[in-house]
Amino acid sequence: MDDCLVPRNVSQGMVGQLSARRAAGVVLEMIKEGKIAGRSVLLAGQPGTGKTAIAMGIAQALGQDTPFTSMAGSEIYSLEMGKTEALTQAIRKSIGIRIKEETEIIEGEVVEIQIDRPASGVGAKVGKLTMKTTEMETIYDLGNKMIESLMKEKVQAGDVVTIDKATGKVSKLGRSFTRARDYDATGAQLRFVQCPEGELQKRKEVVHTVTLHEVDVINSRTHGFLALFSGDTGEIKPEVREQINTKVAEWREEGKAEIVPGVLFIDEVHMLDIECFSFLNRALEDEMAPVVIMATNRGITRIRGTNYRSPHGIPIDLLDRMIIISTTPYEDKELKEILKIRCEEEDVEMSDNAMIVLTRIALETSLRYAIQLITTAGLVARKRKKTEVTIEEIKKVYSLFLDEHRSSQFLKEYQDEFMFNEEETKMEVTPS
Ligand SMILES: Nc1ncnc2c1ncn2[C@@H]1O[C@H](COP(=O)(O)OP(=O)(O)OP(=O)(O)O)[C@@H](O)[C@H]1O
Ligand SMILES: [Mg+2]
Repeated sequence: MDDCLVPRNVSQGMVGQLSARRAAGVVLEMIKEGKIAGRSVLLAGQPGTGKTAIAMGIAQALGQDTPFTSMAGSEIYSLEMGKTEALTQAIRKSIGIRIKEETEIIEGEVVEIQIDRPASGVGAKVGKLTMKTTEMETIYDLGNKMIESLMKEKVQAGDVVTIDKATGKVSKLGRSFTRARDYDATGAQLRFVQCPEGELQKRKEVVHTVTLHEVDVINSRTHGFLALFSGDTGEIKPEVREQINTKVAEWREEGKAEIVPGVLFIDEVHMLDIECFSFLNRALEDEMAPVVIMATNRGITRIRGTNYRSPHGIPIDLLDRMIIISTTPYEDKELKEILKIRCEEEDVEMSDNAMIVLTRIALETSLRYAIQLITTAGLVARKRKKTEVTIEEIKKVYSLFLDEHRSSQFLKEYQDEFMFNEEETKMEVTPS
């Protein structure tokens, strides 16, 4: 998108679908400004019209600091936890807290590092580190751990470093300008900095962003932070969450923490059932709610878990809270552009004529089917030792692999020979 929020026709692999992309861009701006927490956006449109692609585009544009969680509606049935627990975790993964901390650091230019190895060759090393600013110079005693971190960072005299007093973490800022002349053969990555001024010890504010879910897991006595690596977090007790909410509220009041509402993307949202929908409805009212983006390709259909029908299979009261972005089927120019991009992605060369035929196929069957044909046609061409896919290969794979329409045509013609044919035998679905 350009600065006026007008989408470029082709950009970063996205083609056409201009009004939906523009709407998504506006949503993105609002998310970035923190304006629409607790709201919800629905991407609705036919299959293969780029809903998932747009959501992934939003995720990319959000940047590092805004949490983004993506899940498919059907996922909640396969996890080893209740549906509402799964949703709660997904929601809390999508809310960040920016925590401000003051730490004490030592920042200065290294004058000398002196390490004394024990005469026997074994045992703890000790040493001394001399650091200076433009105004002062101090000698620090070094323990074994500090010596290791200094060696790991390859710190030497003339480097400007910071040392976190609490954790002992050493970071190199660069080399001091005063030492520039000592080193003629400097690598390109070498950075020169001024020798720091003032006191050697400073207070510095550091900010880090974590998600509420991470805090939950770390504070949950049954799991501990290692669970974050295995992903095996199981259910988290409501009391733990309550405590954390209270703590976070305190931090916010004291100005130590800020809430960063992120984005929860639920693809194939029609797979959720009525319990999930009413849970979401409630969750969106919470003071700390993320932006929920959902996508569906369903029309008016039954809401799972009820006998009621509603648009997109989503209850009306939830629909009422949403802003709806609709995606529309592509025209042939856009299809061609998308197919071209896919060819590049998959490293398949395609002749112009083949491209025209493939676009035609995409128009008459579906974009997804045409995309599948790219890879397969590419393979056939390679087997035939051709550098480029021509109409021949497209024809070949088109006859080898059926699209949905031809497949159902085939079924209609030969239905008697298949199992579970509804025309003949009525299947007994519910046990009597
Ligand atoms: N505007 C677009 N620009 C570039 N590629 C696109 C665009 N729209 C769709 N595609 C490509 O087409 C394919 C299908 O798109 P996508 O998966 O986003 O469809 P969808 O709307 O989520 O469909 P469904 O309802 O079946 O989930 C993907 O490979 C995607 O990269
Ligand atoms: Mg999709």
